[in-house]
Amino acid sequence: MNMITPLQRQLVHVILIILFLITGTEQEQASFQRKIISFPEFDKERDEVYFEFSGKNTTIESRALQLTTDTTNDGSLPDHYNNSGRIMYYQPFRIHNGRIMGSFNSTFLINLFRESDWEAGHGLAFLISPNFTLPESSYGHWLGLTNSFSDASRDNHFVAIEFDTQNPGQNHIGLNINSVKSDKIVSLNDHNITLSLPSNQSVSYKVWVQYNGTSHLLQVFMDKQGEPKPTTPLLTQTINLKDFLKQESYFGFSASTGYPKIQLNCVLEWTLEIEVLPKKRDWKWLTITAGVAIPTAIVLLVLSLVFYVYKRRRRVEEPDHEYGNLRYLPGMPREFKYKELKKATNNFDQSMKLGEGGFGIVYKGTLQENCEIAVKKFSRDNIKSKGDFMAELAIIHRLRHKHLVRLVGWCYEEGKLLLVYDFMPNGSLEKHLYGVSEHSTLTWNHRYRILTGVASALYYLQNEYDQKVVHRDLKASNILVDADFNARLGDFGLARTIENERNSYAELGASGVPGTIGYVAPECFHTGKATPESDVYGFGAVVLEVVCGRNPGMRIPDEQHFYTLVDWVWMLHREGRIEDAVDERLENNFVVEEAKKVLLLGLACSHPLATERPKTEEILQIISGTLPAPYVPPFRPVFTWPSTDPATIVIDSLLAGITSPSQGYSSEKSSLSISQMPSAPSPSFNLPVSGIMRP
Ligand SMILES: *[C@@H]1O[C@H](CO)[C@@H](O)[C@H](O)[C@H]1NC(C)=O
Ligand SMILES: *[C@@H]1O[C@H](CO)[C@@H](O)[C@H](O)[C@H]1NC(C)=O
Ligand SMILES: *[C@@H]1O[C@H](CO)[C@@H](O)[C@H](O)[C@H]1NC(C)=O
Ligand SMILES: *[C@@H]1O[C@H](CO)[C@@H](O)[C@H](O)[C@H]1NC(C)=O
Ligand SMILES: *[C@@H]1O[C@H](CO)[C@@H](O)[C@H](O)[C@H]1NC(C)=O
Ligand SMILES: *[C@@H]1O[C@H](CO)[C@@H](O)[C@H](O)[C@H]1NC(C)=O
Ligand SMILES: *[C@@H]1O[C@H](CO)[C@@H](O)[C@H](O)[C@H]1NC(C)=O
Repeated sequence: MNMITPLQRQLVHVILIILFLITGTEQEQASFQRKIISFPEFDKERDEVYFEFSGKNTTIESRALQLTTDTTNDGSLPDHYNNSGRIMYYQPFRIHNGRIMGSFNSTFLINLFRESDWEAGHGLAFLISPNFTLPESSYGHWLGLTNSFSDASRDNHFVAIEFDTQNPGQNHIGLNINSVKSDKIVSLNDHNITLSLPSNQSVSYKVWVQYNGTSHLLQVFMDKQGEPKPTTPLLTQTINLKDFLKQESYFGFSASTGYPKIQLNCVLEWTLEIEVLPKKRDWKWLTITAGVAIPTAIVLLVLSLVFYVYKRRRRVEEPDHEYGNLRYLPGMPREFKYKELKKATNNFDQSMKLGEGGFGIVYKGTLQENCEIAVKKFSRDNIKSKGDFMAELAIIHRLRHKHLVRLVGWCYEEGKLLLVYDFMPNGSLEKHLYGVSEHSTLTWNHRYRILTGVASALYYLQNEYDQKVVHRDLKASNILVDADFNARLGDFGLARTIENERNSYAELGASGVPGTIGYVAPECFHTGKATPESDVYGFGAVVLEVVCGRNPGMRIPDEQHFYTLVDWVWMLHREGRIEDAVDERLENNFVVEEAKKVLLLGLACSHPLATERPKTEEILQIISGTLPAPYVPPFRPVFTWPSTDPATIVIDSLLAGITSPSQGYSSEKSSLSISQMPSAPSPSFNLPVSGIMRP
């Protein structure tokens, strides 16, 4: 009689949970997790959700965080007076646990603008605080940090670096702990820095605040925008921040104006690299959990007994109910009716077709609510197991990032599988790179912005989510572009359940799926497996493609040689003229230093040895400018197999498995040859570069 099995299973679960809680508590993880949040600019619509704004006129405007009133209209002068504001990153970080403290680097660009006839005041501060609430009456010299009641209170638990402009003679930075009165002041007058210059000489300053949680060394570096990080810090202080800060603290900025002293207080860029501790797990929680878990377990035991008996009775009537309950779990995407999607796509009409890939066709659809969707209809429906499929769907649905296309829902009926995505009206990067349209070539700024977005999406997939997620199919046709030229990575995952393991990269290579050649890392032809490193390789191919405007699968003739795109760029690098690789349709309208940097990055990602490719974190730092371009040897290294480093083939992704050719909105255009490309001149938009990391 195996009726005891569910009982035993429940018991084992309870014991395991308790053991896990106890051991987890005892050895309070001393392991930090590194996070990077990078805003190379701020976009109101896109980035508002990542900040908490408090203050009368705090907002994102003109691609910057505006802590106080941001207009220079004379009519708005009264709005400027006696103002203060805070803009904090929306999530707190657990930076210490009472014993150990994480390190962080906060790098930002500030501009304290004033009209020539304004008297500057009062200042801006980089702030670490227990909450994002702006204290009342914190205008004037309180800098949005404190007020006359709370100043210097030990309960404030904040640390700030102030950039004080209220008195031109003082022009200084300071380290503030719980008070606007600085613990340490460094005058900027000896460093040729004037924080608030009149409008015709306005300068933005880059600031590097670095803190080492082990050595307790706090350093602040500062220089004019565009200058490299100075070698010597302006301010140095050994201080154990954990004595002052709450374990969970918010990071951000505050600023104030006074009367009549006013200025615009803006932050134009911000990158925060921070070591955080995992969420707190303590005895109190254990007690509560155990208090809940044990009675729950008992109830579950009884229920499972009842259910078991019930099921035995009903088994004949209800055969396949196994995965039905998954549908109702929270966090599952919406399930659509086949009929509904059929109607939305006009019975899958040819005219609604957006693109076609190896696995199926993508149609445009319109739901009743006038909501536009992209429906992917799989042509082969040999799903291995519906349970696997549902489990992966739940994971993919939980991935949320502004540079990923959102999965809206799914449908599995009568052996037909359909996935529903947000519709992206502007089409794919491929279309923008090669599309024949009256619109001219993508500008350099657009290209850089697109690459930044793709890099941050890739970083998210590999580092920010609980499980590493491997995309497996990074390529221009899978990158969609929105109206503001923000990249969105098209769909990922799922392929494992849709095709079986045999359909690997190796098979792909042989059949030469158009548009995929050139994106696949060399080791994949041997392992047939996608890894985070092979995604980086794919990213490298996208970088070269975007910068050079050439498909990575194309052969490029140059002085009687035919080169692959990688080899061609590598050859130009060797000859010291890598910038010659830049898409000639840009007609020199590009930033040479940026172009060189990303081309080198593209080459570094194309390293034949998986272990030598940069990590997504470095990629992000290189693109956002916090790390210099990587070193690239003059000759492309040789690919060896098996690699000397066994780590190359380790896969720890739940979703790692198989490539899927063209899961995105791939279109027939992928085979468009270079000679057909239009060479329209590029307009000179001057959009700043974009791209963000989020948690
Ligand atoms: C500043 O905030 C006040 C109060 O909310 C509002 O009336 C005013 O229009 C704002 N001014 C600007 C320039 O945004
Ligand atoms: C600003 O605040 C100061 C002192 O709190 C006060 O004297 C002044 O009248 C205020 N000005 C305005 C325009 O609110
Ligand atoms: C901060 O930057 C310094 C210097 O570039 C680096 O050594 C350190 O590892 C960085 N710390 C963090 C937490 O990123
Ligand atoms: C926010 O923190 C300050 C101390 O910095 C404290 O006085 C205030 O009560 C806190 N506000 C909230 C809403 O928790
Ligand atoms: C100070 O800055 C000004 C303008 O930014 C520059 O022209 C000048 O050369 C600098 N002086 C020194 C000593 O660096
Ligand atoms: C800025 O304007 C002031 C007067 O408004 C003038 O004296 C000064 O020379 C100007 N500076 C520059 C760099 O143009
Ligand atoms: C902090 O300082 C310690 C000791 O000086 C050093 O070993 C460590 O690498 C530093 N950490 C970071 C993140 O720079």
